[in-house]
Amino acid sequence: MSGFPKRRLRRRRLSPAVRSMTRETRLGPEDFIAPLFIVERPEDAGPVSSMPGVRRHTVERLDHELEQIASRRIPAVMLFGIPAKKDAKGSQAYAADGVIARAIRRIKETFQDTAVIADVCLCEYTDHGHCGIVRDDRVLNDETIEAYARTALAYARAGADLVAPSGMMDGMVASIRSSLDDSGFQDVAILSYAVKYASSFYGPFREAADCAPAFGDRRTHQMDPANAREALAEAETDLDEGADILMVKPALAYLDVIAGLRRAFPSAPLAAYQVSGEYSMIKAAAANGWIDERRVALESLTSIKRAGADTIITYFATQAVDWLSGG
Ligand code: PBG
Repeated sequence: MSGFPKRRLRRRRLSPAVRSMTRETRLGPEDFIAPLFIVERPEDAGPVSSMPGVRRHTVERLDHELEQIASRRIPAVMLFGIPAKKDAKGSQAYAADGVIARAIRRIKETFQDTAVIADVCLCEYTDHGHCGIVRDDRVLNDETIEAYARTALAYARAGADLVAPSGMMDGMVASIRSSLDDSGFQDVAILSYAVKYASSFYGPFREAADCAPAFGDRRTHQMDPANAREALAEAETDLDEGADILMVKPALAYLDVIAGLRRAFPSAPLAAYQVSGEYSMIKAAAANGWIDERRVALESLTSIKRAGADTIITYFATQAVDWLSGG
């Protein structure tokens, strides 16, 4: 009783009801994390031209956006800060009254049920736009992870539930874990950008976060898009160092990597970041009438979850929830 004519796979596709009974992958609000750009200067707030639908907010005018997210039962936000002043060391990243520390306090006062994840990197805070401390045009690893540890501690003190180091420095998770633990923040979790590629899909983000490198690129720390086996080494290292959740970034061009991590580390929670370029490509094609935005966005998000992601960081978060609820 193997094949045709007894076996007809189309039987399970013949009506919406039966298709929904046999559907393997479902999306809901709990699958999403909403990224937010927070600016210090009011004149920097407003729409991001390369990411239609995305805005930059000041801490003072953040509540409305948080309401949109919380009322849709999206469990978490991921914060990126754009400071008023940048310097060579990125010192505003760890300033106690820095823009992200203030944003975290505000959100935790007003929206206790929303988990706050703070991106930990220096690129938005350095005047050269690199992710760490630079000497002789090189990003120094060990000095940089100390700065990440200070930054993570500042965010933990402000009330962050999770910190998310995104700089791809060696030892960054270990350095952050021990600094958090030494100061009594054992319960602050680490979502590590464990597998982050040197991708051209980050273009629009660099406008949104004002963090394009002034010289050179990020290929001495971010991974070569050609490599998948190396991703297992990155993931294993970060788990050993104490990462609670792993991330693969970008998402759609790296579904094999997501699936590979899911198989290799079955017990590790796995996040995937649908990055700015993935978002803007869909928006641009839809604006031209070339694709159906809703269908393409939901298909992309479904494929990311099907590949093995437990949670997806996406600029479509609120919109996707509305689409899924029939809007
Ligand atoms: C670095 C960081 C970047 C993104 C998230 N964190 C940019 C980079 O590595 O150059 C990109 C996210 C996106 O493209 O949506 N702090």
